[in-house]
Amino acid sequence: MRVLVTGGAGFVGSHTVVSLIEAGHEPVVVDNFINSDRSVLGRIGKLTGNVPELHEADIRDKDAMTDIARTGFDACMHFAALKAVGESVEKPMLYYDNNVSGTISLVEALLEADVNSFVFSSSCTVYGEPETLPLDESMPIGTATNPYGWTKIMMEQVLRDVQLANPDWSVSLLRYFNPVGAHPSGLLGEDPVGTPNNLMPYVARVAAGILPKLQVFGDDYPTADGTGIRDYIHVVDLAEGHLAALARHAGDAGVHTYNLGTGQGHSVLELVRAYEEVSSRPVAYEITGRRPGDVAASWADVTMATEHLGWMTTRDLHEMCADSWNWQQKAR
Ligand code: NAD
Ligand code: UD1
Repeated sequence: MRVLVTGGAGFVGSHTVVSLIEAGHEPVVVDNFINSDRSVLGRIGKLTGNVPELHEADIRDKDAMTDIARTGFDACMHFAALKAVGESVEKPMLYYDNNVSGTISLVEALLEADVNSFVFSSSCTVYGEPETLPLDESMPIGTATNPYGWTKIMMEQVLRDVQLANPDWSVSLLRYFNPVGAHPSGLLGEDPVGTPNNLMPYVARVAAGILPKLQVFGDDYPTADGTGIRDYIHVVDLAEGHLAALARHAGDAGVHTYNLGTGQGHSVLELVRAYEEVSSRPVAYEITGRRPGDVAASWADVTMATEHLGWMTTRDLHEMCADSWNWQQKAR
């Protein structure tokens, strides 16, 4: 299949492009490199022997997107978005414009070009504060605590309405839990600019001696060791989930919503210990206050993805930390 991949140079997108190529598909990347580097395309080429076609464009540019879409696609995977929660609080209009308006322009271009298979990067953030765990797809969408989260809730709704008006569309809403890790080759991974906001990239820099210590945001949650619990998922498992969703689209119009996680939660301190083990380095930390907006615990019920997609994760926390550490150590 020829697949339009928006945000294909980013963390999750680049790993999915590799999986697409490895499965014999033809991914075509659209990215404006606002949060990624052009060198990713070359590294994908090195890994797969195939440098994907690239269109440097902004998904909000509807004319450009229409021209690209008209070159003919079987499907679109839509990763392009801004994702920094704190920045979204400071610059909400930037987030609504980039993420929501961008998705609208993209969908309009796809409608004009008659591309009706669409895989969307959603997030477990749409559930808001969990009332019961694990989280399953039938639970009502919650209240987001920040504009980034609201953009995901809004984009899901836009896509449900588009599908309703265009019954031949197949849409998968993939609600990621916490993507971490890196490609085992060490050629692709997550390299946040400045101080990382998310746990694993922060821990990686502490282990590498780049940052002095981790602040653990609260040890008074109602969890076994008092620290927050999340469902960390290896980015390669996540990439494979996209291919499973795409395969399921054939002859299966409608909106399909899937949690993509492992179904298991790990605490902050469990992750710290696993990282210390794989890196053989100490990860210094101090307990600080809770981070506003954080939930105590979140993990997925993955029954839907297992049963409907025949997909499940195979990489455990140890492997997530090992691949992250391998990536961290490679000079870029
Ligand atoms: P990322 O920032 O690494 O990748 C996003 C890519 O989209 C980048 O290459 C960026 O340059 C590009 N982009 C952004 N706005 C664009 C625009 N207007 N036009 C063209 N390109 C644009 O992020 P990621 O971690 O790979 O996330 C991919 C998707 O998954 C996003 O939609 C994100 O919200 C979602 N998601 C990510 C996580 C996570 O923790 N990584 C969790 C849940 C959902
Ligand atoms: C992040 C995003 C959320 C997204 C989700 C899924 C933020 C604020 N939220 O949330 O929008 O949907 O990923 O990928 O970025 N922690 C520390 N110290 C740190 C960093 C984190 O103790 O320096 C703790 C947090 O309190 C939490 C856990 O580590 O318990 C994971 O945090 P993080 O990696 O930021 O992910 P989420 O909070 O789940």
